Amino acid sequence: TRLFVPIDSTALSLDAEEVAEALALALKRQGAKAEIVRNGSRGLFWLEPLIEVETPAGRVGYGPVTPDDVPGLLAAGLLEGGEHKLRLGLVEEIPWLKRQQRLTFARCGIIDPLSLEDYEAHGGYRGLAKALTLEPAAIVDTVTASGLRGRGGAGFPTGIKWKTVLGAQADQKYIVCNADEGDSGTFADRMLLEGDPYGLIEGMTIAGLAVGATRGFVYIRSEYPHAFRTFKRAVANARDEGRLGTKILGSDFSFDIEVRLGAGAYICGEETSLLESLEGKRGVIRFKPPLPALQGLFGKPTVVNNLVTLSTVPFILAEGAEAYRDFGMGRSRGTLPVQLAGNVKRGGLVELAFGVTLDTLINDFGGGTASGRPLRAVQIGGPLGAYFPASLLDLPMDYEALAAKRGMLGHGGMVLFDDGVDLARQARFAMEFCAVESCGKCTPCRIGSTRGVEIMDRIIAGRDVEAQTALLRDLCEVMTDGSLCALGGLTPLPVLSALEHFPEDFKRPVAAAA
Ligand code: NAI
Ligand code: SF4
Repeated sequence: TRLFVPIDSTALSLDAEEVAEALALALKRQGAKAEIVRNGSRGLFWLEPLIEVETPAGRVGYGPVTPDDVPGLLAAGLLEGGEHKLRLGLVEEIPWLKRQQRLTFARCGIIDPLSLEDYEAHGGYRGLAKALTLEPAAIVDTVTASGLRGRGGAGFPTGIKWKTVLGAQADQKYIVCNADEGDSGTFADRMLLEGDPYGLIEGMTIAGLAVGATRGFVYIRSEYPHAFRTFKRAVANARDEGRLGTKILGSDFSFDIEVRLGAGAYICGEETSLLESLEGKRGVIRFKPPLPALQGLFGKPTVVNNLVTLSTVPFILAEGAEAYRDFGMGRSRGTLPVQLAGNVKRGGLVELAFGVTLDTLINDFGGGTASGRPLRAVQIGGPLGAYFPASLLDLPMDYEALAAKRGMLGHGGMVLFDDGVDLARQARFAMEFCAVESCGKCTPCRIGSTRGVEIMDRIIAGRDVEAQTALLRDLCEVMTDGSLCALGGLTPLPVLSALEHFPEDFKRPVAAAA
């Protein structure tokens, strides 16, 4: 019998390690013939640690399990999928999971993340095998035809980026994976690193083959020590098993990956400061142009893609561009891994085709707020994303639809707030975040964000609110138009959305009302 206990950070933070130890000990005492597999997470975080047992009918889940539950579970016949108050039935049949369209996350939580055998038994390396039969330009054309856009947040067409790098003449090119997942409420990159690392390795290898790059770098944020460890092990295994290095899958193609850990700066998630950091320098923004696609890492043509983007590539190559393109709406093709966080009842990862409404995500999947109080705001797209009120819940998830409402989809993170939230304080937080994380290269961001905090302090204190609000709008205009990169340029999004949708929080300052 195989038992699955997640080794994903979320599960670990909820004592999955202790559960695994208690299970191992109890099984040993019983002399039971059972193997404990440490899988990634399925993304149903409110049920973690969610343990599973393989039965003839399929995998039966139990959760959330504490170490103290272990003896009772075994007594109830856990190994046969026996009845127990924590029994969830067949995991694949849990509606929250069954209703999803998992393409990028198809293997996450199912396989042993470090077993290449498991990876290949679940469709792994079919994409690269296909890519090896194609000319580089045909691989790029397939990605272009799939409609895949950058999942880091900017939504730039991946195929066009790759085409630029393919067309550049150079003695060396690079593939850089941006795994500096800094947005609040996001964890999709981390789940893939911890739950399906070979998917990223395969995606990067395909990218290398497509543009003529032989070296790849993965830049992982310092706050992800488990992901870093798992991914490093996966790279070493892949190298040992002929999936990295020379003659990959018996071909003439060579490709290898280095893994780097960041040092805790949000700005290093911006592609040019990430490249500076990879080169061993301070993470300061570079001017664009030149685009990294033409002069990137060490001045060479470089594909810089978000982790989710690269991990989606194997599916596209294996199943064909059409299979991916068939999902989605408008110019947003395929699926989006939405990450539900904050004050939410059922948080976790929901991968669905673009076009799903906020209402479905927040109410059907999320189950509303964890506090049970009315939902007041949802911030979409990280700390630089807009705050939307409950009245906009019919909004479909689509890059253009969100932009039309002066918001952005970003990396798919959604943070819920109940009616206890004060949007003036959240606007102050946006300015403060920008002031703390600014790289300091340009004035609107470096100085503007500090002035923004001061203005918000005056508004919150109820001092000269009308004039200060007008000044805040002016400042936001300068930051939007004059900042060199997205940090200063997008900080006005949360601030202005708070003003637009929640003006009462600016008119009735906390101090005055109290
Ligand atoms: P951008 O629009 O300047 O660039 C998008 C990408 O397309 C870049 O990689 C750029 O180099 C590339 N590109 C543009 N024109 C090209 C061409 N002709 N050929 C080849 N490549 C080309 O956006 P930027 O500043 O890179 O990203 C901003 C976004 O980052 C925001 O919208 C936000 O959603 C997101 N973001 C994500 C975070 C995360 O944790 N994932 C954190 C903060 C922001
Ligand atoms: Fe640096 Fe901020 Fe200017 Fe970006 S906007 S270059 S983070 S100072």
